[in-house]
Amino acid sequence: MKKLALSFLCLVLASSLYAQSNTQESKLVLDMRSMLDATVDIQRAGFYNNKEGVKEGATRLIESLDSLLTTDPTSYLPDDKANAGKFAKKREQMLKLYAEDLIISIDEGNIEDAMDNYSRILSECTSCHSRIRAKAWQ
Ligand code: HEC
Repeated sequence: MKKLALSFLCLVLASSLYAQSNTQESKLVLDMRSMLDATVDIQRAGFYNNKEGVKEGATRLIESLDSLLTTDPTSYLPDDKANAGKFAKKREQMLKLYAEDLIISIDEGNIEDAMDNYSRILSECTSCHSRIRAKAWQ
């Protein structure tokens, strides 16, 4: 009976652990989708010369970066705690920096800088995604 109770407890603990990592994972996925939407909206607004739209998309991108700081990066990056932590944090900082700079470039009517900021944002996304796919530091 004791053994049964113990294995029941293990099951509950295991499933609550599972539930926890699952919630964290879906928050990451939801944030990623918001990041994609924001990025696509920036581009769409750019093609329509809609400056407010570009700025609005950049603001939304900045607001959806949370998971890069709150999700354990060792759960998706190669197994090196120090590097994974630094890498994810740096991507969050750079995405924020380029998105803020994009807003400034638009305000100043500097389209070339705005395009540069946008392409740097895309490179930030890709630099993490390519590492996840390869499961290796490049
Ligand atoms: C530091 C790492 C990192 C950065 C930077 C990053 N991503 Fe991701 N992205 C991930 C991980 C990890 C997943 C996989 C999540 C999963 O499937 O559990 C993912 C998945 C996605 C997905 C698929 C989500 C789904 O529907 O399953 C999209 C879309 C996405 N990212 C967009 C972006 C965009 C846009 C950017 C840049 C603005 C970006 N990501 C930057 C780590 C990153």
